[in-house]
Amino acid sequence: MRITMVGSGYVGLVSGACLADFGHVVSCIDTDVKKVEALKAGKMPIFEPGLEELVAKNVRQQRLSFSTDLASAVEGAGAVFIAVGTPSRRGDGHADLSFVYEAARAIAAGLNGFTVIVTKSTVPVGTGDEVERIIREVRPDADISVVSNPEFLREGAAIGDFKRPDRIVLGVEDKRAEVVMTEIYRPLFLNHAPFVFTSRRTSELTKYAANAFLATKITFINEIADLCEQVGANVQDVARGIGLDQRIGSKFLHAGPGYGGSCFPKDTSALIKTAQDYGSPIRIVEMVAAVNDQRKRAMARKVLTACGGSVRGKTIAILGLTFKPNTDDMRDSPAISIITALQDAGAKINVFDPEGMDQARLVLNDLTFFYDPYSCCDKADALVIVTEWDAFRALDLDRLKELLNAPIMVDLRNIYDPEEMARQNFTYSDVGRGK
Ligand code: UGA
Repeated sequence: MRITMVGSGYVGLVSGACLADFGHVVSCIDTDVKKVEALKAGKMPIFEPGLEELVAKNVRQQRLSFSTDLASAVEGAGAVFIAVGTPSRRGDGHADLSFVYEAARAIAAGLNGFTVIVTKSTVPVGTGDEVERIIREVRPDADISVVSNPEFLREGAAIGDFKRPDRIVLGVEDKRAEVVMTEIYRPLFLNHAPFVFTSRRTSELTKYAANAFLATKITFINEIADLCEQVGANVQDVARGIGLDQRIGSKFLHAGPGYGGSCFPKDTSALIKTAQDYGSPIRIVEMVAAVNDQRKRAMARKVLTACGGSVRGKTIAILGLTFKPNTDDMRDSPAISIITALQDAGAKINVFDPEGMDQARLVLNDLTFFYDPYSCCDKADALVIVTEWDAFRALDLDRLKELLNAPIMVDLRNIYDPEEMARQNFTYSDVGRGK
């Protein structure tokens, strides 16, 4: 099938490349001329393991192409996916849908024959209705069906998540669209991936409910971690002890510095707003968002305590800046709040991150950048691990002790063993491992 992907960001690019790999002919569109030129030259705008190779293979086999020309790409396409950004709207926390509606108008202009319009962007309940209204306003003659098909992939594991999903959620309002969507996802269907066919509004809400639930799970274990520190208990054992109960599940129970990224903060905020607008507030998610915001900055206090109560005039080495490993994404990363709080407390900041330093330059000031963990720690007064990159899991502790002014490590991802660190004479603090 010929498919058009409107928006070549994270979700659009990964989905486009994977759908091409399923055998469809996919045209990925973006309004950013530079991005499209770079993609044509084989350069990825984001860091995602395996993506460059997957794109190159499908371009070579002529199933994947990039263009700025939306109208031509829409003509003759069986399905047009909308995968543009839905950032938080400045000021009120609602999702900003201007890119989605702009895309709908542009798509309408090129329509020709029956076309399924699929919203893959994370969009609030009712957006599909509005997309349909806009298209019918621009092209009263259009033969379309608007479907909601939210994406559940994680950054850093995006290709695997797309190709081996836990489920595919499809909000379809008519049979013709159902046939087209089943055709698009046929390889997953044959692999027995579960399909959830539902109404468009239910599908839109399902995406927010999923992210809000995961954010709640993380925040729950983070608060249990705080309690563990006070009562001398171990949060990792608590997580294992509860996670083996299949009704709870072991995933998303890693305590840490608070969740970040391009999805959880913005999606919890948008869900909170929608629920308030409809007079049905989701107080538990309101609390989760507030607790998580406070937590990120509060992590700086751990560093202050480890440094004897003050970091004024001290140099702190930060290892890991991105909101999680295997991405260059800095959006809402806990590192931003932690570093800003440490700078406010008078610290100088050294940083190293394997992929995130270019993005970090755009959101943080007065950092000293290093290109390996050891030079980052040279003459620093303490070391803080903010992101659990694999490269930080087996650091040469003897070498670190020689380089650091004092052997102080604050491990916000619990990637070192407290007993081993004590044996190595490190002043070591972590998250929720009292005992
Ligand atoms: C998240 C969801 O996991 C995806 O299913 C969803 O498709 C995506 O948002 C989206 O809506 O686009 P992502 O933001 O890429 O994916 O990353 P996650 O792996 O979910 O991590 C989010 C944050 O939670 C990170 O800061 C991570 O460090 C933190 N986290 C995650 C924890 O602190 N503890 C955990 O146990 C798990």
